[in-house]
Amino acid sequence: MSRRIAAKITGVAGYVPPRVLTNAELEKMVDTTNEWIMERVGIRERHIADKGVAASDLAVEAVKNLQAKHPFDLQTVDLIVVGTVTPDMMYPSTACLVQHKLGIENTWGFDVSAGCSGFLYSLNVGTKFIESGQYKRVLVIGSDVNSSMTDFTDRAVCIIFGDGAGAVMLEPAQEGEDGIIDHVAQVEGIGGQYLYMPGGGSLHPASHETVEKKMHYIHQDGKNVFKYAVKKMAEMTERVLEKNKLTGQDVDCFIAHQANRRIITATAERLGMPLEKVIINIDRFGNTTAGTIPLAMQTALEEKKLKEGDLVMLAAVGAGFTSGATLLRWAY
Ligand code: COA
Repeated sequence: MSRRIAAKITGVAGYVPPRVLTNAELEKMVDTTNEWIMERVGIRERHIADKGVAASDLAVEAVKNLQAKHPFDLQTVDLIVVGTVTPDMMYPSTACLVQHKLGIENTWGFDVSAGCSGFLYSLNVGTKFIESGQYKRVLVIGSDVNSSMTDFTDRAVCIIFGDGAGAVMLEPAQEGEDGIIDHVAQVEGIGGQYLYMPGGGSLHPASHETVEKKMHYIHQDGKNVFKYAVKKMAEMTERVLEKNKLTGQDVDCFIAHQANRRIITATAERLGMPLEKVIINIDRFGNTTAGTIPLAMQTALEEKKLKEGDLVMLAAVGAGFTSGATLLRWAY
């Protein structure tokens, strides 16, 4: 009988651009305070890319960091999946640009657009390609340059987002290893009205009017996004646990999308997970959209909160609305 091929993460690395934007600097740009941002969202500072630095550049740096930590031959990469909502351009895809910049000769790839669930959805897709038995090495990347679509006069938005990327390598697990165990995911398009970037697509192509009306910026109804995220993250994490006959107490490490500290801690509380098992780095990076989960995996490793054999829960809610939760057994 042929065994099930599981996928496992064999390496993770992140990259953030060097320039830091602190709350103190934001206080000079918009009507806000460090206290408000720390209390309502939990962010102290975020990294912002310089002009001309795009999602593919952050992605390439993340892959270079991955290679430095876990050496592998780039030419053995079968597939590149990039989660992003800030691609360098409408097309070619960021995956094509990453392939070219890294000089990987015989591979293919594509982008996944799922807002803040972009990395999780890319991971789900990459996992299926390993599980099929067809591929041995899939690079899964989350990369976003949110500053490229942020209105730095809108205090409800500009304090939240940052730029960053992360990359993981997916490979087949050994016999007996769990690797990536299961996932649940859902889209509910009714949420599109609460978080979106209206300009630049086929509905509202760029024009003087779209620029004047600020349609190339993030539009967010924070309250509605917040309410949905708190409810949905709990629902998705509970759903994947129940499906696998597990409870929050079985989880060793909870790595959630970093959108608001309160969303993460509310979910952990609902699942009965103590805070020491919860990874939080939003204070240093803000919401980097598809970059958050691999950056948080890196933080978990640095803080020694993640080790071989740990049961890990990943979860995200994002624009769309999109949501998902993934269970895996950490493999190194
Ligand atoms: N500094 C100071 N005050 C601010 C502010 C800022 N940066 N941004 C908004 N406010 C004000 C509002 O204008 C409002 O003032 P008012 O009562 O006089 O009208 C007040 O603070 C409360 O606004 P509200 O929107 O109710 O605040 P909130 O507690 O919901 O926090 C967010 C706002 C955006 C931080 C919060 O809604 C949030 O995190 N939403 C989810 C965002 C998210 O996760 N996005 C990505 C999804 S993946």
